[in-house]
Order: sequence, then structure tokens, then C-alpha cells
Amino acid sequence: MADYDYDVLIIGSGPGGYVAAIRAGQLGLKTACVESRETLGGTCLNVGCIPSKAMLHASEYFDAAANGTMAKMGVKVTPELDLPTMHAQRLDAVKQLTSGIAFLFKKNKVDWLKGHATFKDAHSVDVAGKTVTARNIVIATGSSVTPLPGVTIDEKVVVSSTGALELQAVPKKMIVIGGGVIGLELGSVWRRLGAEVTVVEFLDQLLPGMDMDVRKEAAKIFKKQGMALMLGTKVTGVAVNGASASVSVEPAAGGARTTLEADCVLVSIGRKPNTDGLGLEAIGLEVNKRGQIETDHDFRTKVATDEGGVWAIGDVIPGPMLAHKAEDEGIAVAENIAGLTGIVNHAVIPGVVYTLPEFAGVGLTEEQALEQAGGDKAAIKVGKFPMLANSRAKTNHEPDGFVKIIADAKTDRVLGVWCIATVAGTMIAEAALAMEFGATSEDIAYTCHAHPTHSEAIKEAAMAVTGKAIHI
Ligand code: FAD
Ligand code: NAI
Repeated sequence: MADYDYDVLIIGSGPGGYVAAIRAGQLGLKTACVESRETLGGTCLNVGCIPSKAMLHASEYFDAAANGTMAKMGVKVTPELDLPTMHAQRLDAVKQLTSGIAFLFKKNKVDWLKGHATFKDAHSVDVAGKTVTARNIVIATGSSVTPLPGVTIDEKVVVSSTGALELQAVPKKMIVIGGGVIGLELGSVWRRLGAEVTVVEFLDQLLPGMDMDVRKEAAKIFKKQGMALMLGTKVTGVAVNGASASVSVEPAAGGARTTLEADCVLVSIGRKPNTDGLGLEAIGLEVNKRGQIETDHDFRTKVATDEGGVWAIGDVIPGPMLAHKAEDEGIAVAENIAGLTGIVNHAVIPGVVYTLPEFAGVGLTEEQALEQAGGDKAAIKVGKFPMLANSRAKTNHEPDGFVKIIADAKTDRVLGVWCIATVAGTMIAEAALAMEFGATSEDIAYTCHAHPTHSEAIKEAAMAVTGKAIHI
């Protein structure tokens, strides 16, 4: 057997790569992780999940003080925005968490190799002019912003999510191109802080991929909060003139073009896998039509040798571009490389939009469940419970939202759960666990839930599947 520098070399230190590296280290494999950024943690920790949640959380406090929510509860305050401090606490969260990964690497004897990795062959990469060899190489290079043809992102007037996290002043008018997760989260941050926000979405509803009831309700909620929504509308161009931009829009179905003016434009129309400059041609690995690297169920690519080979995980492979999906794949790939059995159940991956309220779901949408049943409406049962009737939500002045449970009519097995609630992201974990254990709606309905909690709405929705909800 050839002598390699490492048992495992991981390219990219996002939630996929760094988790794979730590798990490989725990399993006693000699491990290195290559990262081209200055800090570890990838998109998620540096410019994604973490900084966006820091701004969402802080702006929620400002909004609660400014929009009368606090006054309703007898706390009268007039908020004053200190944006530099808000940004500083964001940067502090990022710093603490990224340096935490460096600590965990040391603890698990993972070598951090600084630089951009390019394949030379199936067992070696070039990192900053040096060749490093490994029995197994894991591609965990993540994703980056999808550009809008003809629109230049200058990160000042026309920004990606990265620029939108760092705006040094609250825009007067912000146009968000794309009513998906990033557009709604970051659009919410700046709306709460005082910007007039218009979301332009190509499709006729927000949040593609979510259950249609959730998508329709989302439009109502964001409108009520003061966001202007232009659904079924496409952006055809953006012209920057000094500190302002003119955005050309037209109906997606065709029609007259109009122009919107703004001092900030956020381009959030999706993300694309990072494979440029990776040297995939040197190992004969091709990407699919969507630019993704295909793997088998064990995360092995087509490039396999007798001694190991090339694996891939996270945003660079098919599936939802989510940190927890990447993390789970990171654990599984390390276990598979170590000869154990690493599995990810891709049918049960929750998704959460961290606005207020939060939007969360796991499993099938009602539309998907119906399609799977060949359109037979009698093949599925749906239970719904409004947050308005949940005692804790009511007490907290959080009336928006519902829980919806979709079950198989014959077996009662839960097929999908959808929640809109202030803490939907936390509530959905219970649904994911139940589905992972193959629960029926009755299993959830007869599980004792603490009172008064938002989670009781999940129990009630489960009871509603068979018409037994108590509080409606
Ligand atoms: P990444 O996190 O993208 O990491 C890949 C790393 O590889 C990068 O650091 C990159 O520099 C490095 N790299 C790439 N090529 C090379 C190379 N050739 N050599 C060396 N290094 C290389 N997901 C959630 O689940 N929850 C959220 O709340 C959430 N919020 C988000 C908010 C925003 C604004 C954005 C943009 C994304 C958010 N996501 C969220 C998505 C999440 O960040 C990604 O799904 C996740 O980071 C993917 O992890 P990964 O390990 O596959 O790749
Ligand atoms: P997205 O795929 O969620 O939404 C993009 C939206 O843009 C879609 O609704 C699409 O129809 C629309 N669109 C595309 N072209 C358009 C055009 N020309 N004009 C108008 N609308 C157009 O992508 P987004 O928001 O950029 O996020 C990328 C990914 O990052 C997400 O898919 C998600 O995986 C991840 N993410 C996850 C978060 C979370 O889990 N809370 C938070 C932020 C990002």
C-alpha cells in the first residue's frame, strides 16, 4: 500500500468539512482539512447561518420596541439604533464560533492546511504550491451566490447576502430579488431597522419548496409586517447610478416593464456549488447539469481506487443546501471512510426560515404527498391547528401561524409536518424525531406535551388528523 501523508484530507471547512474532519479525528484517522478562507467554519459560520441569525435576533429586539409589541405588554421604550454595536456583536459571535472550530481541530488532532486545494490526482492535491497526499479525499467545498446575468454585485449598492449582512447604514429603499430564504431573512432584518423593503419574486408565491399553505400564509404575514411583495415578477436588469439603483421588472408571464428605484438591491436568487479551480478534470470527475458532484448513498464519487478515493458532501452535492444536512453527511462520510456504516436519511431533513414568525417543515408537502398517492385525496389525512388557539402563543401576543400534519390515511404514518410559529425552528425537531422513528399521528397525539408550550400545537394538529383536536 502506498504511503500517504494523511488517511483523510478534507477540502473545505464548512459545517460539512469541519464536522467530517472532527469525526475522522475521533475515529483515529490521520486527518487534514484545507481551507482557503482566513478562518474555519465555511459559509455557515463566516457569512451565513451565524451572522444572519445575529442580525435577525438583534433586529427582533429593535422591532419589538419600535412596533409596539413591548408596549402592549406594559414596557414602553423608544429604541435608538446603534448599528455599529449591532454589527460588533455579530462579528463577535462569528469570531468566537470560528475560533471554536480551530480549538476542536487541535483537540481532535486535525491539521488545518491554509490555502486553496487543487486536485493533481485521486490521492493528491496542491495546497499553496505544496503537494499533499491522502488515501481518501473529501470534497466539501460548499456553494456561493448565483449571479443574476447582467447584474454586477458591487457589495455596496448591489449586494449579495454577504454585503447585506454588513450594510453600514439602514437603506431607505431596499429591493430584494428573490423571495426565498435569504431574501426574506435579510429583508426582514433591514425592514425591522427601518428600510422600505420590496421583494420581487419570479414565482407566484414565496418560499419555493415549502407546503403551499405555508407559502400562501407567508405572503400574508410579510405583507402585514410592511414588506411590499411583487410576486410573479422577474427582474430583467439593474442599473447603478452613484448611490442608487434602478431595477427593471416585468411580469414573469410577460408584459410591460416598469422601473423601481432603490438605494440597496439584494440579489438572492439561489446558490451554486463551488467546483471552479478544484481541478476536477485531473481526476476525471464531471459535474451534473446543476453543477453538482454526484455521489452514491455512502457519499463516494465515481473516483474510487483500491485504496480509497474521492468522496463529496454538503452544498456541493445534490439535496437541500443546509448546514445540518452538510453536518450529518460529514459524520456519515467519516464513518464510512473508517469502515463503519454512516447513513443520512435524506427524507427527514428539516428546513427553517428564521424570520418572525419562523417557517419550518420536514418531510413531504401536502402537494408532494398527494402526487405520491397518484392524486388520490382519500389516501392522505391532514390535521391543522392555529397558533391563535395555542395558549402560550396567545399569552405571548404571537397569534400568527399554524401547525399542519400530513399522514398516510391507511397506516397513519406521518408524512410531513409544517409549522409557522415564533419558535417553529425548535418545534420542528420533535416532528423530525417522530418521523425518524416512523411515528403515526396517533403516536404524537398521545405523547404528553408540557403546558403551556408552543409545542402543544403539534400535539393538537396530530389530534386534528383524526378530528379530535381539543382547543378548536
Ligand atoms: P460551506 O459552508 O460553503 O464551506 C465550504 C468551504 O470550503 C468554504 O469556507 C470555502 O472557502 C472552502 N473552499 C471551497 N473551495 C475550496 C478549495 N478548493 N480549497 C480550499 N477551500 C475551499 N443553512 C442552515 O441550515 N441554516 C441557516 O440558518 C442558514 N443560513 C444561511 C444564511 C446565509 C446568508 C447563507 C449564505 C447560507 C445559509 N445557510 C443556512 C446555508 C449554509 O450556510 C450552507 O448550507 C452550509 O454552509 C454548507 O456547508 P458546506 O460545508 O457544504 O460548505
Ligand atoms: P432560494 O432558492 O431560497 O430562493 C431564491 C428565489 O429567487 C426563488 O424563490 C426563485 O424563484 C427566485 N428567483 C430566481 N430568479 C429570479 C429573478 N430573476 N427575479 C426574481 N426572482 C427570482 O435562494 P436564496 O434565498 O438565495 O438562498 C440560497 C440557499 O441558501 C437556500 O436555498 C438555502 O438552502 C440556503 N439558506 C438557508 C437558510 C436557512 O436554512 N434558514 C438561510 C439562508 C440561506
